[in-house]
Amino acid sequence: MERLEVIERVALRAARAAGRIHLKRLSHINISRKSNAIDLVTEADQESEAAVIDVVQRAFPDHSILAEEGSGGGNQHASEHRWIIDPLDGTTNFAHGYPQFCVSIAYEWRGQVQLGVILDVFKKELFVARRGGGAWLNRKPIRVSHVGTLEMSLLATGFPYDRRERRRFYLCFWEGFMLRTHGVRRTGSAALDLAWVACGRVDAFWEFGLRPWDVAAGSLLVEEAGGHVSNLDGTMLDISAAQIVASNGRLHQQMVETLAAIRPEAERREAEMLGEDEARRDVRHG
Ligand code: IPD
Ligand code: CA
Ligand code: CA
Repeated sequence: MERLEVIERVALRAARAAGRIHLKRLSHINISRKSNAIDLVTEADQESEAAVIDVVQRAFPDHSILAEEGSGGGNQHASEHRWIIDPLDGTTNFAHGYPQFCVSIAYEWRGQVQLGVILDVFKKELFVARRGGGAWLNRKPIRVSHVGTLEMSLLATGFPYDRRERRRFYLCFWEGFMLRTHGVRRTGSAALDLAWVACGRVDAFWEFGLRPWDVAAGSLLVEEAGGHVSNLDGTMLDISAAQIVASNGRLHQQMVETLAAIRPEAERREAEMLGEDEARRDVRHG
């Protein structure tokens, strides 16, 4: 592995390049759609991805890149070095001028994230985590919260882009946690949700349907700030498994147990909804 300080300098340069584009583009936003009517992409996503990749590739031409907008090149597993990039996490917020968005950059070596950098340029907040080295917000060390019971906790979550089709399933978890905690926030940036678990602003976070670039940097931040991350069933986090639960550690078991307790009802409600939709279709088609 290259020296981590060298990698970090490049990651910071790349994050700042993306941040400059976010600020510049915020005043004139051009929106297009991706997979469906609510999955948006702006010029800022594409431009900031190009800027991040340009910085990384100039420094490390032989490293692999996995980037959300797909401009990282073909062979993603060619190298034992991989950069995992969300050039703009919180695109829907950005598209509406709602100031909760960031760039998220992770550097992975032999399949394990070694460095995570998340820059919220609007709030001037830079989160950095080094594996085995700690986590910082604007160069000050950060720690997760001390909250030990769900009843006293504040949680964050998000809804993936199939949320219209799967609303009953996702909302069942929202309802379950709303009834058991001080509250649940839906901020619109999974990377910042994780960074905010790391610095103790929220106590835990869960979400379905996430991609590696949403969680790679943030999950290291949580771990290095003393928290815990896993798959929803408590097993070791697989960043490509499209799901995550992150917490201050003390709440982890309660989060995993509660997710498991809510799931059967969520599945029941979703099956019921699918049945209703089918019945409606049958009536329509005679
Ligand atoms: C989205 C955000 C959001 C989460 C979605 C993500 P994007 O990423 O992180 O909070 O709920 O699941 O896809 O599209 O803004 O990069
Ligand atoms: Ca994202
Ligand atoms: Ca994105």
